[in-house]
Amino acid sequence: MRSFMGRDILSLKEFERNEFFRVFEIAEALEPIARDRRNSDLLADKTLVTAFYQPSTRTRLAHEAGMIRLGGSVTGFSDAKMTRAGDWYQESIKDTIKMLEFYGDVIVMRHYQQGAPREAAKWASIPIINGGDGWGEHPTQILTDLYTVLTEKGHIDGLRWLAVGDMRMRTMHSLGYALTQFDCPITFVGPTPDALFDDSPDMRMPENYKEDFKKYGLDFTEAEHVEQAIAEADVILVEPVMQPDYTKARDERKGDAGFTPDNYKITRELLTTKAKSDAILLHSLPRMDEIPPDVDITKWSRYWQEAFNGVVMRMALLALVLGAAE
Ligand code: CP
Repeated sequence: MRSFMGRDILSLKEFERNEFFRVFEIAEALEPIARDRRNSDLLADKTLVTAFYQPSTRTRLAHEAGMIRLGGSVTGFSDAKMTRAGDWYQESIKDTIKMLEFYGDVIVMRHYQQGAPREAAKWASIPIINGGDGWGEHPTQILTDLYTVLTEKGHIDGLRWLAVGDMRMRTMHSLGYALTQFDCPITFVGPTPDALFDDSPDMRMPENYKEDFKKYGLDFTEAEHVEQAIAEADVILVEPVMQPDYTKARDERKGDAGFTPDNYKITRELLTTKAKSDAILLHSLPRMDEIPPDVDITKWSRYWQEAFNGVVMRMALLALVLGAAE
């Protein structure tokens, strides 16, 4: 197996099957630290740099919390507008990274431009972790989700997935790539053009990703309505369809966001009448109305466990790329 030490985590297209299991093994070993709300000294001499060019609650703070749980330090920015990259200078990724690499030992970057973390990795002598890039990928989130499935169901192979939401979403692309390494058929349900409002974009899986998934052997189908696929699903993964433009640094909401059509909603009634009794429901959050709050207290919901695992997974990745776990 390739070593994780010094490695960038940019895409799950680059992950081999045994590497997923190695990451899960390290996550399982470190999980008691987070569960017991302790801090350890595994990364006591290391510093994480956060470079967030787009808003985030979970990804940035889970990386920071993970680093702190392992005894490391954190520096960085959560608003590029307050740096030279986001003001009059519009400093390039190269020049910014050439500074940041001297401020710590690993960088987690979120950016509105697809490919920005890969560009950063070209110039950095320390590992770059992709914390979400435009409509590109979100590898650490999907590693978290797969780990949640493993801990909740005891296995990943053999489970049938249903993914619902905007298929331009970066999590969906990382998910597709990840499942090419497992025996997991998946159905994608994303809005057709005009499904939400006049001139709403095509939110079905983009053709270039479908081509790639076919090349890598993903067993996938598409459906128009969650009701067509929910009965067979063991894992239901949901993302919003009412959401901002991920190619912008910041997208302020103007007025009401609108309601999610039934085709892309998971309600308590739908779960009770149509879903498998032992299916699990994931949502990386934030959510709009696609999963109403009354679903939280049902046997299907696992998104709070997923949130906890978000810290555990970031601990594992930081330990691995910084060489504290081999
Ligand atoms: N799931 C996720 O990426 O959340 P944030 O945008 O809050 O980081």
